[in-house]
Amino acid sequence: MKLDHLAIFLAFLYLQCYVRADSSSEEDSSSDEDQNEALLVEDPEFDLLIFTQRWPITACYEWREKSPDHICGLPSAQNIWTIHGIWPTKLNTIGPSFCNKTAVFNVTELDPIEKQLEQFWINVEKNKPYDSLWRHEWLKHGTCAAAVMVQLNTEDKYFGQGLTWLQQHSMADVLGEGGIKPGQNYTVLEIRQVLIDRLQKNMAIECYHDKETKQQFLNEIRVCFNKNLELENCDGILFEDVFIDQPQGKIITNCNVNKPVFYPATVPLSRYEKTHMSPFDLHTKFLEEYKRQKAKENKNMKILVNIYKLIQLLKWSTM
Ligand SMILES: *[C@@H]1O[C@H](CO)[C@@H](O)[C@H](O)[C@H]1NC(C)=O
Ligand SMILES: *[C@@H]1O[C@H](CO)[C@@H](O)[C@H](O)[C@H]1NC(C)=O
Ligand SMILES: *[C@@H]1O[C@H](CO)[C@@H](O)[C@H](O)[C@H]1NC(C)=O
Repeated sequence: MKLDHLAIFLAFLYLQCYVRADSSSEEDSSSDEDQNEALLVEDPEFDLLIFTQRWPITACYEWREKSPDHICGLPSAQNIWTIHGIWPTKLNTIGPSFCNKTAVFNVTELDPIEKQLEQFWINVEKNKPYDSLWRHEWLKHGTCAAAVMVQLNTEDKYFGQGLTWLQQHSMADVLGEGGIKPGQNYTVLEIRQVLIDRLQKNMAIECYHDKETKQQFLNEIRVCFNKNLELENCDGILFEDVFIDQPQGKIITNCNVNKPVFYPATVPLSRYEKTHMSPFDLHTKFLEEYKRQKAKENKNMKILVNIYKLIQLLKWSTM
């Protein structure tokens, strides 16, 4: 009965598609993307090191907006910018990344500076493993720095350099001395002017765009260094940023320059907290969820019944 097989095969395909379409929406794309990238080994040559500092309050807000279960790791001291990473970068392109397939990350090597890293290179996304940020930064970016520069060819040196740069050019100090303090709105031009006045280099200013409130938050600032570990202009780096020509020169930013940028002093309530639920609401929500689940099961049942009918029909028609 060839057709029988065909029908079963079709039913199988159908179910596969159905199941796949159902589960694909919940994937965390970032880790997958890293695994794909990990298969490529790139030419490690690069032009600049992008030293990225983040405002942990905004990073925390962004993380908590993604899921009601998300919790943050924040530095114990207030008003400190933390390190995201040191990213070797070729001008006008992204990367290189994952330059050493055989490299491993060994957290023990960071023992001597671990206490500092826990504060200044903190893993804001606390639901992830303790050393996940360091592991990621080392394998994706550190391996490329290590392949080219003796000054950065061990975990100790790479992470130690980050700590040194943060001490020298912490955005808490740079912005603070320029009168830019948490808790207020600023324009991108104001922020940029302070950065240029203090460091005499062009840097990248990164915003987090909150889709719910349509507000933009100051999120990251990228400072560039050359291979002699000296400050350099970031012109020519490619990111999600755009280059906006202004009378004062190019601005490297993904922020909307015509709207205020909020520099939050405390973590804003996430959208889950804003829709605070009473026990009655929770009960209603539970019932809705239950009904939806039931409806889905019924739908699945109907599909199976239809497939069964199809098989019967095919059987009948071939008899
Ligand atoms: C890659 O990593 C391995 C293991 O740490 C190391 O022995 C090797 O020297 C590295 N290769 C390059 C090109 O950095
Ligand atoms: C990790 O690093 C520590 C300290 O340098 C070393 O003693 C240990 O052998 C390393 N482990 C691996 C698996 O390389
Ligand atoms: C910052 O700007 C946003 C958007 O215009 C506004 O909603 C918010 O109230 C402002 N915050 C402060 C502290 O001025």
